[in-house]
This record gives sequence, structure tokens and C-alpha cells, in this order.
Amino acid sequence: MQVSDSSSRILAGLLEARTGQQLTMNRRWRIETALASLLRERGIATLDELITILVMGKEPGLSNQVVEALLNNETYFFRDRTPFDLLSRAALPKLMQRRQSSKRLRIWSAGCSTGQEVYSLAMLFADEPLKWQGWTIDILGTDVSGKAIAAADRCIAQYPKTYDCYFARAAIHVELEQYGTALPFIERAAELRPESGSARHLLGFALESLGREEDARMHYRAALKLGFHGAAQRLKRLEDPGSGLLPPTRSAAPPPG
Ligand SMILES: C[S@@+](CC[C@H](N)C(=O)[O-])C[C@H]1O[C@@H](n2cnc3c(N)ncnc32)[C@H](O)[C@@H]1O
Repeated sequence: MQVSDSSSRILAGLLEARTGQQLTMNRRWRIETALASLLRERGIATLDELITILVMGKEPGLSNQVVEALLNNETYFFRDRTPFDLLSRAALPKLMQRRQSSKRLRIWSAGCSTGQEVYSLAMLFADEPLKWQGWTIDILGTDVSGKAIAAADRCIAQYPKTYDCYFARAAIHVELEQYGTALPFIERAAELRPESGSARHLLGFALESLGREEDARMHYRAALKLGFHGAAQRLKRLEDPGSGLLPPTRSAAPPPG
């Protein structure tokens, strides 16, 4: 399919009018690829035909779909590492000083796509809980793309209730040596996926770190039965002190909140 100059100018103009995004001449090859599946879905044979329908204004929803398709929603966690480095090394220390009295920060991810940037920002703060204790930090994500926001909403609705989310939250608390806080998350993960050896192993580890060795042994044994071989070393150490893996470090960290 060929994109005529006039078609690409009209489509680039539509995108710029709706979003401010400019499709420079050397990136106009994207138009064809970006719109191919929309044309297929709508049974439209050529871009010129699409332009005719758009100009006639008979299908008001179509221009939104065209804009959606032309947007580039590429995102991933800590995308283009540099802005995050600058934020944590330069901007946040200054803001922290300036906002000492209010202890309040508001951050706007103004083209957040499906939300990875928002979560990456949240991770910057979650990584240093003591430093940000007592602060109120709001992170807002917005995007002109309804599809991207719908995907982000779906993830927020579904992910918090999944095994992976409970496991990840538990693992973060274990990493921070907050074993008591980790416990309900890892118990829920083990409940949601009873066949998961790694969940039972992590549960054993949290319990052992809390001094509940008998319970820990039971979960290490279960993890081993489920094929998580690392549990054998932990079990060995508990049953035969001085052998196996090193014991977990006991935390002196105060319980959160
Ligand atoms: C390449 S993605 C980058 C996403 C995220 N900022 C990141 O770096 O991971 C750009 C996002 O900006 C959105 N966008 C483009 N123009 C916009 C506008 N005028 N207002 C809000 N969002 C916009 C797009 O829909 C797209 O999801």
C-alpha cells in the first residue's frame, strides 16, 4: 500500500491537532504499518479511501481510532534510564530540601502509556522507605490514548489479586527484611498457587527469619516436595546446624507504619 503525500499530510495533521505529536517526513513510513490492521478490521482498501471517509465525517469514531493507531505507546520499566537517574540524583534531593515543611510531592507522568513509568517512579520511593517516611507522594498518570489507559486500568484491577503480585510484594518486603509484613502476602500467594515450590520456600524463609523454625521446616519440606531444590539446603541447616546455607539475617528494622 502506497501512502501519497497528501494522505500522509492529512493524517499527520490530524495526529498533531489531537495530540501535539509531529510525524516528521522521515517517520511517515510508520503510517502504513500503524494503520494496516485498522484498515483490515474496517474493510477499507486504501489510505486514500480512509481519508475520504474521514473527510466526509460520516464515521465520527473513526478519527479517534486513526489517532490511537498512530500513537506510539512504547513503554517499559525505567525506560531510557537517564531521566530516572537525573530524577533521583539531581531533582529529588533538591525537592526534598525545598518541601521539608510540607513533605509533599506530586509527580505527573503526562503520557504514561500503560503505566510502567508510573510504577517505575513509585519504585524509586519504595526502594528508600526510611528516607521517604512521613512524606505524601502522589503520582498521576494520564495519556491521550484510551486504549493505553484501559490496559493500565485492567492491570490495576487484575494484577493486585494475582499470585505474581502477592509474591512480588512479599519478595520486596523480604528484601527489606520486613518479614512480618511479608507474611500475609506470601501466605496468600501460596494459597493462590498451592503447587508453587518457590512460594512455599519464601514462606519458610520469612517464618525462619521470624524465629518460627518449626513452621519454617514444614514449608521447606513442602517446597522440596514441589520440586524447589534450594529448600533442601535450608532444611539441612535447620536440621543439622552448621551445615547448609547461611541462616537469614535477623532484622532490626522497626515494623512499618
Ligand atoms: C512513547 S510512549 C512513552 C510512555 C512513557 N512516558 C515511557 O517513557 O515509558 C508516549 C505516550 O505518550 C502519549 N501521548 C502522546 N501525545 C500525548 C498528549 N498530547 N497527551 C497525553 N499523552 C500523549 C501516547 O499515547 C503514548 O502512550
